[in-house]
Amino acid sequence: MLQYVMKGGNPLVGEVEIAGAKNAALGILAAAIMTDEPVVIDNLPDVSDIRVLLKAIEDIGAKVERINKHKVRITSDSISTVEVEFDYIRKIRASYYLIGALLGKYKKAKVALPGGCNIGTRPIDQHLKGFKRLGSENTIEEGGSILAQAKELKGAHIYMDMISVGATINVLLAASMAEGRTVIECAAKEPHVVDVANMLNSMGADIRGAGTDVIRIHGVNKLHGTEYSIIPDQIEAGTFMMASAMTKGDVTVTNVIPKHLEVISAKLSEIGCQVEEGDDRVRVIGTPVMTHTNIKTLPYPGFPTDLQPQMTAVLSVSSGTSIVTESIFENRFMYVKELNRMGTDIQVEGNAAMINGVSKLTGAYLTAPDLRAGAALVMAGLTADGYTIVDDIKYILRGYEDFDGKLRRLGANIVAVSNEEEIKEFKQRY
Ligand code: EPZ
Repeated sequence: MLQYVMKGGNPLVGEVEIAGAKNAALGILAAAIMTDEPVVIDNLPDVSDIRVLLKAIEDIGAKVERINKHKVRITSDSISTVEVEFDYIRKIRASYYLIGALLGKYKKAKVALPGGCNIGTRPIDQHLKGFKRLGSENTIEEGGSILAQAKELKGAHIYMDMISVGATINVLLAASMAEGRTVIECAAKEPHVVDVANMLNSMGADIRGAGTDVIRIHGVNKLHGTEYSIIPDQIEAGTFMMASAMTKGDVTVTNVIPKHLEVISAKLSEIGCQVEEGDDRVRVIGTPVMTHTNIKTLPYPGFPTDLQPQMTAVLSVSSGTSIVTESIFENRFMYVKELNRMGTDIQVEGNAAMINGVSKLTGAYLTAPDLRAGAALVMAGLTADGYTIVDDIKYILRGYEDFDGKLRRLGANIVAVSNEEEIKEFKQRY
């Protein structure tokens, strides 16, 4: 199994170019199949989640041509089935965006129910509620698949019971080709929701208000081809900004939209880092002693839950006591016990972690329970004295393109290894 081995102690210094946003790309790839005309998508992150979804799209009969590793042309005039194999949902939950896309275009979709994962049960009741309000009949088939079908989809006024990124995107997809007007109240406002809406509008959809609490859609009966480039990944950018702070480095993230990073820049400034914003870049200069702060994860524009593990790692080596409250997922502190094995002093009570900052971390053998926690453990390993191994990096590879390569170019001593021999070689070299 692939692992990262690293030796801590080097401050990260230099520039790192941020890839396209994975969580926008997943919705945008689903939107691409809603027309029979060719759709070219650029700035795709080269990560396993994207490769899996492209394979799922190909398997239902669409043509997928890789122009390069960040650019693809999808032509969906040859889709032969509206049934998405269980295997794809098992691998990535977000293949459920194909329900909204297929339901919108063909008024029928059959996709396996996604399971929960390490950070929570993650039901999809809000997705199904939205489809139902549009006129879909959702039935749970044997083996845990959802069959969503409708004679016709009609616009509706939909009130979400909670702010859900996935449900907002999925309903947006279906509603874009429903007859008449749809209003989504309590919509998620994340940048990637706005990116999916902009992509659909570039295909001839009529969507207004994305990025606010209320999205208004006037359905169209046909969408056309387009060329679209995905926004930069706010979460990858935030991860590198925090890695700079934690290693007391000086890193500039480039190809970003600073507005999407405002809450992260504000929090890093609050704990003593120097943060300089440019047009498409943000520079974070660490400080010898960071101070404590409190964090509560919230839907955008609040502090992103996907940066909660990384910020907890930063606060674990900041002076004083910080409190991090996770309000989005019910089980997103699994990684804390791994951090505590490196000498951090963090107590988790329910959905809050109390962090007493320490001055030193010691390398350890760690297991990454999920994608963002994995990134946090790597950050801690790059800060700790001695060697750290992070196991199970398949999660990290789902959402970070060339993660160890980008870190090495910033001065980190880290490599991906697959056996003891390679670990030994690394330890002889560093
Ligand atoms: C998206 O997940 C992201 N994934 C997550 O990023 C991110 O953490 C999350 O949004 C919040 O920003 C993708 O975009 C592929 P939600 P999603 O629906 O859409 C509950 C990463 O690391 N809920 O906004 O699944 C849900 O259980 C991943 O890239 C329901 O109860 O998140 C959660 O507690 C991790 N019923 C809360 O709402 C529903 O029908 C927010 O979930 C839907 C959601």
